[in-house]
Amino acid sequence: MKFQEIKNNIYYCGLNDCDRRIFDELIPLEHGTSYNSYLVKGSEKTAIIDTMYPPKTKEYLKRLVDNQVGKVDYIIANHGEQDHSGSIPALLEKYPNAIVITNPKCAENIKSMLHVPDEKIRVIADGEEVSLGDKTLKFIFAPGVHWPDTMFTYIKEDNVLCTCDFLGAHYTFSDVFAVESKELEKSAKRYYAEIMMPFRMMCKKYTQMIKDMHVDVILPSHGPVYTNPDYILDLYADWTADAPKNLVTMPYVSMYNSTKEMIEYLSNKLEEKGIQTFKFDIVDDDLGDLAMSLVDAATIVMGTSMVLAGPHPMAVNVAYLAAVLRPKAKFGALIGSYGWGGNLFGKIGELLAPLKLDLIEPLQVKGKPKEEDFKKLDEIAQAIYEKHKSLNLV
Ligand SMILES: Cc1cc2nc3c(=O)[nH]c(=O)nc-3n(C[C@H](O)[C@H](O)[C@H](O)COP(=O)(O)O)c2cc1C
Repeated sequence: MKFQEIKNNIYYCGLNDCDRRIFDELIPLEHGTSYNSYLVKGSEKTAIIDTMYPPKTKEYLKRLVDNQVGKVDYIIANHGEQDHSGSIPALLEKYPNAIVITNPKCAENIKSMLHVPDEKIRVIADGEEVSLGDKTLKFIFAPGVHWPDTMFTYIKEDNVLCTCDFLGAHYTFSDVFAVESKELEKSAKRYYAEIMMPFRMMCKKYTQMIKDMHVDVILPSHGPVYTNPDYILDLYADWTADAPKNLVTMPYVSMYNSTKEMIEYLSNKLEEKGIQTFKFDIVDDDLGDLAMSLVDAATIVMGTSMVLAGPHPMAVNVAYLAAVLRPKAKFGALIGSYGWGGNLFGKIGELLAPLKLDLIEPLQVKGKPKEEDFKKLDEIAQAIYEKHKSLNLV
């Protein structure tokens, strides 16, 4: 298939991976993903910005041949992770005169992770420029969004910015240009939640920086290309804002429905008070949905049954994940059910501690909740309402 031209001799040469269902062995994918690679033809030199996920290398190289790419001078590695840099060794074999241009941290990564030889790498400094003749590539280091080795590549004359994983989405397409839709917004949010949210402050900084650059086109390394940069930048401005929304996220695990009954009761009470809730069944539901709700939630309520003298291991897993995603939630509560004894919340509290949540009195119930337990749940609902009110959320 012919490469799609994005602007003045800048082409999309990436690939869709429609069948991929999980990323990083952690993140369920609703739409598969795309591995974006860009061919930039200057009057003197040709560059490829980011390459390909290794299992797709053969198909990728065939596309380059089919599109008569006879010469590549520079391979720009914006980030060392294998889904973008994984095909560098194969590209170097195909184009032996090419050299890899990257930053010092990425150089270390592609040497250790992909065994790219030292002599094939040219290390550049932050802000350095490389000429392709009538086009200039400028490299902007962007550590933290999402690896320490991440950088952006700015194609100056065309006012086009390749943002690597930043502003990406796990999404596939037949036309590379973004069609603004709820579906795309959801994919971009899911991607932000799982990959970028732990670095929210950095995301905020780079969102503003790119806004101030007034670029014409944003080329991320997953998902579609944005010719209306404000669309994705405004979404990022919303997701990275300091203030949470009037939302309570409620992940729970329940073997015999006692904890579930409490979660459902509390959710109804909160909704009656005008607070939005998101109930998340830890065993059955999609972790991406939980991560997305954590982008906005002001409060996290975790529910767990007691297993082997502690919280259910699946709840431990989610508490750990919630903590490392570093959401902006301010308040928390723990509820659960036990049979005879143990420490139901100790481990969960420990795991969530880095979030510094203002915790409401926890509730543990022996067996199935009774009338007095529902009264306590009413009190928890009221406490959450007051906390949200204190932030003018309700
Ligand atoms: C495998 C297993 C291990 C359990 N271990 C404990 C335990 O160590 N301490 C305890 O108090 N209850 C224990 N229980 C009992 C449950 O915590 C109790 O039935 C609780 O009400 C279940 O809540 P749920 O209906 O929300 O799952 C265990 C139950 C199961 C099935």
